[in-house]
Amino acid sequence: MTQVLTWEDTLLDYLRTSNEDEQVVNFVSKTILPQLTSRFDKIDWLELGPGPGTKTQLILEDIMGSAQAHLRSLRLIEPSVAWCDFIRRNTPEILNTIKIFEMSFNDYLYSESRLYDKWQPNFVTCFHVLYEYELIEEFLLYLKHQEQTGHRLLACIIVESEHSDFFKLRQKLIHFGQPQPSPAALQLRSSVSKLGLPAQEFEVNSQYFRISDIYEGLQWLLAFLFGCEKEALTKIPEKVRMEANEIIKQFLEKKQNQVLEVPDIAFVFAIG
Ligand SMILES: C[S@@+](CC[C@H](N)C(=O)[O-])C[C@H]1O[C@@H](n2cnc3c(N)ncnc32)[C@H](O)[C@@H]1O
Repeated sequence: MTQVLTWEDTLLDYLRTSNEDEQVVNFVSKTILPQLTSRFDKIDWLELGPGPGTKTQLILEDIMGSAQAHLRSLRLIEPSVAWCDFIRRNTPEILNTIKIFEMSFNDYLYSESRLYDKWQPNFVTCFHVLYEYELIEEFLLYLKHQEQTGHRLLACIIVESEHSDFFKLRQKLIHFGQPQPSPAALQLRSSVSKLGLPAQEFEVNSQYFRISDIYEGLQWLLAFLFGCEKEALTKIPEKVRMEANEIIKQFLEKKQNQVLEVPDIAFVFAIG
């Protein structure tokens, strides 16, 4: 079993042992790319928070392999230095095509240098990044501004669905005093309607398979659910960790083949 060393390792473990990348990439290929190619001859893609870039690379391969889609440029905005290095190390073949900005998307979108930067995306993706109210608002206000200034683009946000077993499990663990990521899908829905943005919603049905690990010592799932690193987990008293694991164990026992259903919600915006 992989040691939980950093939050990055935890996320990589999850991506390796779930079908989330595959499901998200399938959804983008089947639902988004046809809309994109019917609207634009050339794609200028802005991806916010690519993390390890596993989805980015697969979508890129789809675009490159498609007769209809022509990628002109791609920018990745990623504040984690570890992830930027990871992308540079693991996908050197795509580095000629892309430009990486080591910063948060809010700094990128609202930086002064952007005033002089003529580059304008017509495809914006943001997968599993918008889990804080401020980030949701800043991103949606950016879309609103694009709409008001007459820019045409297709944007796709993906967040965990409120029907995900991860979300349900976190609700059960709420009394352990860990910071609980908010139900982003609900916040997004409400902010989208408040701003009057044109959004279509889709379910993306991912599953998480590697359940047996939680019966071992490292409590991978607990760290993942709390969104923390191993260091932070060790600060939680042993007794509390054991109680939390017991709750997870009971939840899993009710699942068929111990597979967690972890659907996501995709919000797709055709602006302009
Ligand atoms: C859960 S990971 C998802 C990674 C990837 N998009 C995926 O779906 O596999 C969240 C990513 O968002 C990045 N992130 C967090 N806050 C951000 C911000 N304000 N702007 C851009 N990226 C951000 C994190 O560094 C991390 O890479």
